[in-house]
Amino acid sequence: MHHQQTKTPYLLTWLLVISLTTMGSHADPKSSGSSVANQDNTAMPQAAETIEELEPGATLQVPVDSNMSLVHVGSNDSFATTPEGNQAARDLFDAINAYHRGELELAGEKARSARALYDEIIPRENYGGEYTALQWFCDYLLADQAGREQMTADPFVNEFFRMYGGNDFAVLQEYLKRKYRVATIGDEDSLAGQERKIYLEDTILFNNPRRETWEHTSELMALLDLRPGLRIADVGAGPGYYSFRFADRVGPDGQVISIDTVAEHLAYVDRTMQRLGVHNIRTIQTDGKSLGLNGEKVDAVFLCSLYHNIYAMSTAPARDAFVNAIKDALTADGLLYLADNGLVPRGVLPYHGPYVAKQLIVGQMLNYGFELVRQHQHIPQRYLLVFKKAGQDASARSAAADTPNRQAVADANLLSATVR
Ligand SMILES: C[S@@+](CC[C@H](N)C(=O)[O-])C[C@H]1O[C@@H](n2cnc3c(N)ncnc32)[C@H](O)[C@@H]1O
Repeated sequence: MHHQQTKTPYLLTWLLVISLTTMGSHADPKSSGSSVANQDNTAMPQAAETIEELEPGATLQVPVDSNMSLVHVGSNDSFATTPEGNQAARDLFDAINAYHRGELELAGEKARSARALYDEIIPRENYGGEYTALQWFCDYLLADQAGREQMTADPFVNEFFRMYGGNDFAVLQEYLKRKYRVATIGDEDSLAGQERKIYLEDTILFNNPRRETWEHTSELMALLDLRPGLRIADVGAGPGYYSFRFADRVGPDGQVISIDTVAEHLAYVDRTMQRLGVHNIRTIQTDGKSLGLNGEKVDAVFLCSLYHNIYAMSTAPARDAFVNAIKDALTADGLLYLADNGLVPRGVLPYHGPYVAKQLIVGQMLNYGFELVRQHQHIPQRYLLVFKKAGQDASARSAAADTPNRQAVADANLLSATVR
C-alpha cells in the first residue's frame, strides 16, 4: 500500500530547502530574498539577494511558495502562433499551391521566403515545436530530385513524408489550415476537427525529421543502457519515434512494447512496422492507468515527455495506479528512464510546451519507492532521470532511512545551469 500522505510533510521540507541554480526568466527576484520556514518553524538561511547580484556559478534557493512556476502544463502553448510563424506558414502553404499549379518559380520564391522566416524565428521561439519540421518541407520543395531522395532515404522519415507529403502534400496543407488558419476546412469547431488538429500537431512534433537538431536525440539515446535481447516498454510512445530506435538497438532477440492511450498513434506504429519490416515491436493501447502488460516483466521502461502530465494532471489514485504499474512491470534490477522538459537557465529558450522541475519528479519517485541511479542534462531543455526500484517497499522505509538519498538529490544541484 502506498503511503504518500504520511510522507508529504517531509517531502515539503525537502523542497523548501532545495537549492536550484538561477533560472532567469522563471525565477522571481523578490522571492529570492524571502525567508524560508523549516518544518519546525526554525529559520532557514536566507537565500541570495537578487538574481542580478549573484556571482557566476552561484545558486539561488527557490522556496516552493515563490511565484516561480516549478510546473507548467502548457498544452495551449503548442497551439499559440506568432505573426512571423503565421507568415511563414502562409508562405509554405502558397508555395505548395504554386507547385500544384506548376508555377515553379513562384513556388521557389515562397518556399525561400518561409525558409528565411524560420531561420529568423527558430532561435527565438517555439523550441522543440513544429518550425524545424516545416522548414524541412521548405528545404524539400527547394531541393532537386537527388536532394529529395536523400532527405527521405531514412525509412522512418520516409514514412513521415508519406503521411504529410504524399498525395500532393494534402495532409501538410491540412495541418497548416488547422493550426495556422491559412484556409477554412469547415469542421474546426467540432470535436472531430479538434481531435484531428491535435493528432496532426502531435505527429508533426514527435516524428519531426529534424527532431535531432533540437533534442539531440542521439545523445539521449547514448545515455540509455540498451543492448541486444533487452525488453523495453516505451510508455506514451506516440507515433513511435523512440520505439523504432529502440527496436534497432535491442535487435531481433529483444522486444519493444509501444504503449499509448491514443489508438491513432499506435496504428501509425503498426503501419510503419509493416512497411519497414520491423518485427520486434508490439503495440498496446491502455486507459492511461495501467501498462496493459498483464504480469509480463520488462528490463526497462522509458517515458519521454509524459511524466509532467502524470505529475500535474492526474488524480492521485490514477497516478498511484500508473506508477505502481511501472513498478510491477520492471524486473528487480530493471531501469526506469524518465526524460522530460525542465526549467532552463536565464537566456535559454525554454521548451515550447509543458515543463516540470526535475526535483519535483525525483521527490515524487522517491516517495513511490524508486532510487535515483543517475541523471543527465544533455540539453538545457530536457533532462533524463534514471531510477531503479528501491530494495524494499516504500511503505516499509522510514523517513530517516530516506535521508541520505534525499540529501544526495538535494545536494546534486540538479540543474546544470550556471549564472551567466
Ligand atoms: C508528449 S507525447 C510524447 C510521445 C513520445 N514519447 C515522444 O517522445 O515522441 C506523450 C504521449 O503519451 C501518451 N499518453 C498520455 N498519457 C498516457 C498514459 N497515462 N499512458 C500511456 N500513454 C499516455 C499521449 O497519447 C502521447 O502520445
